[in-house]
Amino acid sequence: MNSFIDKSLFWKTFPELTTPRLELKQITSDHAQDLLAFWGEDTVTQYTDFESFKSINKIQDVINWIQSRFEEKNGIRWGIFLKTNGKMIGTCGFNSWITKRGNKSEIGYDLHPKYWRRGIMYEALTHMITYGFQTMKLHRIEAHVDPDNMGSQKILEKLQFTKEGCLRENGFWKGRYWTNIVFGLLEPEFFL
Ligand SMILES: CC(C)(COP(=O)(O)OP(=O)(O)OC[C@H]1O[C@@H](n2cnc3c(N)ncnc32)[C@H](O)[C@@H]1OP(=O)(O)O)[C@@H](O)C(=O)NCCC(=O)NCCS
Repeated sequence: MNSFIDKSLFWKTFPELTTPRLELKQITSDHAQDLLAFWGEDTVTQYTDFESFKSINKIQDVINWIQSRFEEKNGIRWGIFLKTNGKMIGTCGFNSWITKRGNKSEIGYDLHPKYWRRGIMYEALTHMITYGFQTMKLHRIEAHVDPDNMGSQKILEKLQFTKEGCLRENGFWKGRYWTNIVFGLLEPEFFL
């Protein structure tokens, strides 16, 4: 579907999503400590364009930035909360939302290492992507992944993304160039 999307009609309130084990909700200042628990881990940030966080102050800046992206309707990031204890253990979201000449977005996600390999991110992303295609009416969802990030590549393959190509030395951070593998998923492919 390629009809014009009027973003002003979206996100009057923050959209919450529910999965069997999780709640996907807005991230606020109250969650800075929970974020520090995994954004402070080098295993989580090793491929990101930012270093592991050492303090809550810097995390507050990111929370403010996430909030402004949402208000501008240029992106949305959910906190991933366990239903059992209400704890925030990860985040996921649409980093961008481009509606000119198509309707597409790039996704991002991260999880506290303690909860890896339990199908949690697969569960969160399945519901997030369904929201993207059904409610935001996205036509294309994209992910950029480091060639060494096997966990991220595996989850995208499980979600039926196609490995489309490679952007060589596409970004410079942490003192060197980084190559991205591009994965893409089109709306008709997800609902097959
Ligand atoms: C990538 C990440 C979100 C995966 O989360 P997760 O909840 O552990 O993933 P899931 O348990 O839902 O796994 C989904 C599939 O990927 C596979 N997988 C997950 N991590 C893997 C790894 N490190 N190596 C190989 N396969 C892996 C799982 O086995 C599963 O496939 P299966 O059902 O066929 O067994 C998590 O490792 C993480 O937060 N990494 C650091 C941040 C990051 O790299 N974010 C992405 C940036 S592009």
